[in-house]
Amino acid sequence: MAAREQWTGRLGFVLASVGAAVGLGNLWRFPTTAAAEGGGAFVLMYVVLCLAIGVPGVMAELALGRRTGQSPVGAFAALKPGTAWWVVGALGVFTGALILSYYSVIAGWVMAYTVQAARGTLLSGGAADLAAAFDALISHPWQPLVWHLVFMSVTALVVIGGIRDGIERCSKLLMPILLLLLLAVAVRVLTLPGAREGLVWFLRPDWGALSWRTVLQALGQVFFSASLGMGAMITYGSYLSRREDIPRSAVTIVGADAGIALLAGMAIIPGLFALGLPMESGPGLLFVVLPGVFMQMPAGAFFALLFFLMVVIAALTSSISLLEVTVSFVVDRLGIGRRTATLAAACVVALAGVPSALAAGALAGVRWLAMDVLSLADFLASNLFLPLGGLLTALFVAWVWGARPAAEELHLGAARFATAGLWTAAMRWAVPAAIAVVLAAGLIGGR
Ligand code: PHE
Repeated sequence: MAAREQWTGRLGFVLASVGAAVGLGNLWRFPTTAAAEGGGAFVLMYVVLCLAIGVPGVMAELALGRRTGQSPVGAFAALKPGTAWWVVGALGVFTGALILSYYSVIAGWVMAYTVQAARGTLLSGGAADLAAAFDALISHPWQPLVWHLVFMSVTALVVIGGIRDGIERCSKLLMPILLLLLLAVAVRVLTLPGAREGLVWFLRPDWGALSWRTVLQALGQVFFSASLGMGAMITYGSYLSRREDIPRSAVTIVGADAGIALLAGMAIIPGLFALGLPMESGPGLLFVVLPGVFMQMPAGAFFALLFFLMVVIAALTSSISLLEVTVSFVVDRLGIGRRTATLAAACVVALAGVPSALAAGALAGVRWLAMDVLSLADFLASNLFLPLGGLLTALFVAWVWGARPAAEELHLGAARFATAGLWTAAMRWAVPAAIAVVLAAGLIGGR
């Protein structure tokens, strides 16, 4: 068997992992959930959970991947052969495919917007036309489907290239551009007169608004955003050399992820306040209200193009990590070549995304718990499967593999791992207990 491919080095690995973490979760899901959950209290909860669960969780998954050199199913099986623990890895592969199926649909909408912005047609109507234009796009009989397929094809093309020439190269090129574009938009919006009030709303906690449901939403957001609980970090860790410092990388990855989420919130929400636009909590925030902001500001068309281009970039570096989980599973377990495995996985996921692509069109009548097909898939994946996968992974690492051998793996390549004791305690008790409580309380409390 050929030796497993590895990242070229720390920079490539960290940029690819930050690329996996930063995506629609930061730019679409975080601001819209913050708006729906009432701002500051949710934002603070999210930051606390990033530190308490995100950082130790990313460390655990990377260590599990590097130790075994396998994608999720094989990683669990390798450390505890002959048991059913591999099922946790399989749940991850399933969840990853489920997320990618609707992720690609939303990314497709963003692509359509980017093309419209580039042609100058996005903001050419009146402000009142924006909502109608968005509705027309997502409920169109075939357009969302075509964009979904285009986005899946681009994702597959990158993944076929492999770890170094595909994923790493794409992330190294695109991540710096993403940061520059986001900074440009954030500075522009934050310097609009009246933006300050929105910034305060976004950052000042209103504890009265905090419910178990809000905490569950924040937990789901941490898992979704840090790409935790479904094996993406296990997979990326499996391509990692023993020389790399995992604890330090985990802090960088989660820090960059949370930082970019906060920056995205600051680039979006204050704009609404500045222009007196309504706080909309659904997808309309990004696709209707935000273009309204761009419409009213100087050079807005240009910034709209920058913004949507940036969202496409962010989505792509995440979708490749989602697809890579399935592909590495197929390559490792079934011994199929990367190209065939990628094409097969992409076709399956593309098909699975068809209902989401039609969620606002042909399937608009199909609703459950007041959610359409796409929102339901997102709710189940983020607030149920990811925390569940994260809980089982934490239990596995702490109690089955063992927190001590896992900490030894973390010591490799880490000159100082001063917080080993803290990490061990967190993995054994705090992380599983916190996930279990929030999951139970949030689900029983209902929506
Ligand atoms: N973290 C990505 C985002 O925020 C989504 C993702 C989830 C990617 C799970 C990989 C695994 O958009």
